[in-house]
Amino acid sequence: MKTTISVIKADIGSVSGHCFSHPALMEKCDEVLEKALDESIINDYYISRCGDDVDLIMTHTKGELNEEVHKVAYDAFLQASEIAREMKLYGAGQDLLNDTFSGNIKGMGPGIAEMEFEERPSDPVIVYCCDKTEPGAFNLPLFKMFADPFNTAGLVIDPKLHDGFKFEVYDVIENKKVVLSCPEEMYDLLALIGSTGRYIIKRIFNKKGEIAASVTTESLTLKNGKYVGKDDPAVIVRAQSGFPAAGECVEPFAFPHMVTGWMRGSHNGPLMPVSEEYANPVRFDGPPRVIGLAFQIADAQLVGPLDIFDDPAFDETRKMSSKAATYIRRHGPFEPHRLPVEEMEYTSLPGVMKKLEPRFEDIDD
Ligand code: 13P
Ligand code: MG
Ligand code: MG
Repeated sequence: MKTTISVIKADIGSVSGHCFSHPALMEKCDEVLEKALDESIINDYYISRCGDDVDLIMTHTKGELNEEVHKVAYDAFLQASEIAREMKLYGAGQDLLNDTFSGNIKGMGPGIAEMEFEERPSDPVIVYCCDKTEPGAFNLPLFKMFADPFNTAGLVIDPKLHDGFKFEVYDVIENKKVVLSCPEEMYDLLALIGSTGRYIIKRIFNKKGEIAASVTTESLTLKNGKYVGKDDPAVIVRAQSGFPAAGECVEPFAFPHMVTGWMRGSHNGPLMPVSEEYANPVRFDGPPRVIGLAFQIADAQLVGPLDIFDDPAFDETRKMSSKAATYIRRHGPFEPHRLPVEEMEYTSLPGVMKKLEPRFEDIDD
């Protein structure tokens, strides 16, 4: 029987603006998922959070886009939203667009990453969850894990990885997708995924077609074909035995690369890897954070997790990201800290332009 991992996440309200999901919300989600466990809808679960986003990590045997499993996540978020409203938490129910469930949770607000696979004799899986950034934030680390031999030694020295991987890339503006194969089409892949606001890695497969990684790409703000907002993402990655080693899946995060999001979803800043405990984006609502949770999957049960970035080996990365945050922050309202106008979640520009319109004159020299 195949095992499915479903990571479904949502921001349902937080303390101190957009900083911290209150434990009462996590407790309510726990209650709903515990009931689903009793009713054998799911086989196991782990609830985490990064900043103001609650991440439900569930294992089951019902396949992807399963109505019952999605309904569990939806009910958990709905009931937790009610508590958030009672507590007057900030942005209560922020990511729940509808209050009636119809089939699956797609398009209803929460982000979804799922994968179904035949368990190997031992099956390590890592889940990364972010706050204050967008799904394209994973383009760089996923490329490094699955296509960069300077990151993943196995691509060169492990016969099981030597053939490379296939990347399914979404164009979130045109609503199209394309599959590119590495190493053969590496430069074409990079030509696309360097544009992190438009071309987003959705899934990665090995050359036998087995799933290797799956990213949440549902966007709250990709409405009417317009991508204006940032959707805090999560990714599921499989490690070892034919996939990159766990350490090769962790190594890309040692570099705190620049991602889009941060304050008001309108700024670039470094991605800081932190433990679950420190997943609180307090400085200028950031800097953007990522947590990593490593599990072993055994008969659809989650063994673990190991809190990956709760490790002094990442102290230097955190320092570097603090330095980079200070550096880029000093640009204040200037690009490239502030996003270009068409990518900002908030903008006063139309109002400013309207006010100044009568004062604009032709340049005739
Ligand atoms: P979230 O997307 O995490 O809710 O943050 C929104 C925001 O405006 C942060 O400044
Ligand atoms: Mg929020
Ligand atoms: Mg968030």
